[in-house]
Amino acid sequence: DKGGWSSFMAKEINDQPDAVENTVRGRVSPSGVEIPELTALGDERLRGIDRIIIIACGTASYAGQVGAYAIEQWARIPVEVQLSHEFRYREPVLSDRTMVISVSQSGETMDTLMAVKYAAERGVTTVSVCNTQSATIPRESDAAVYTHAGPEVAVASTKAFVAQITALYLIGLHLGRVKGALSAEAAAQAIAQFDELPAKVREAVDTHEQIAQLAHWMADTRSVLFLGRHVGYPIALEGALKLKEIAYIHAEGFAAGELKHGPIALIDHGQPVFVLVPSPRTSPLMHSKVVSNIQEIRARGARVIAVVEKGDTAVLPYADDVIRLPLADAFFEPLLQVVPLQWFALELSTAKGLDVDQPRNLAKSVTVE
Ligand code: F6R
Repeated sequence: DKGGWSSFMAKEINDQPDAVENTVRGRVSPSGVEIPELTALGDERLRGIDRIIIIACGTASYAGQVGAYAIEQWARIPVEVQLSHEFRYREPVLSDRTMVISVSQSGETMDTLMAVKYAAERGVTTVSVCNTQSATIPRESDAAVYTHAGPEVAVASTKAFVAQITALYLIGLHLGRVKGALSAEAAAQAIAQFDELPAKVREAVDTHEQIAQLAHWMADTRSVLFLGRHVGYPIALEGALKLKEIAYIHAEGFAAGELKHGPIALIDHGQPVFVLVPSPRTSPLMHSKVVSNIQEIRARGARVIAVVEKGDTAVLPYADDVIRLPLADAFFEPLLQVVPLQWFALELSTAKGLDVDQPRNLAKSVTVE
């Protein structure tokens, strides 16, 4: 049931405040974060973990990339992200102190399942972040941390993505507390952010009208670039993937710092570039670097669409369009920034008369390697 929306994807974008709220529910209290499925593994085992590898494909891998920054920061454990289908072939160095966290909406992605089995056979602790109850991957894992986004029908993943990031953050906070790497105060600050998150995601969803206008003017765009830094970088990759998937438009995401190492050569007159601008309050250094990037591309004719936190006026002289989002701590920005990018892909797809929910050549769950 599309609940009155024109597509499942539109409904699912709109469901995102509930998706994050439901994923947090029961795992966060004023006294802390606890994921019972991780507790069941035993604190000794968790304290012994010295390396985490997140494995996933597509959108789930970008959620993994966002989560990796936070888990490393909060738990002080080195975290890397690998595409499931690349994992085995490099013969990864694994031990009984390694944790592999798989991320999969469907829990049936064959590439990810094979990677989990490979890890499990080598004595690794396997944790599944999954949206589908009793799917194969969580059943094959030592612990299942379910996202509670509800069934996702549209091929392009939206609400599962924000729920995956949320679940990975909860895992990072849980591990950080168990390992003693994270103070109770720092955990409490993150918990307070979770409390405010659904309302902020709702505000991000409310950018729909503005984005629809923007997409209307840009309906014949042939290429779009996305720039981000830190946790904004995987969001840039996700914004580009969404556009490829459902609007069949060439799009690329870059780490903003890479611009001058090559991609800036792509910029010429009228090239649309979405820039995810970190908060000047929480990330002043990154903010000023990204504003410089905006100046550099603007000087070369780019059409700049800046996604900023409300009140950030630094970009105004250089941006053609400004999308304003609520204030949030740095790790919580991506959960807001991705929403207008999802709307943008949906609206361009619609403008081109395409089937938003059933893009060509794609299936909701990829059960072959
Ligand atoms: C993107 C998309 C795909 C999936 C990927 C992994 O919108 O739908 O990139 O994210 O195929 O699927 P799951 O999460 O089911 O393992």
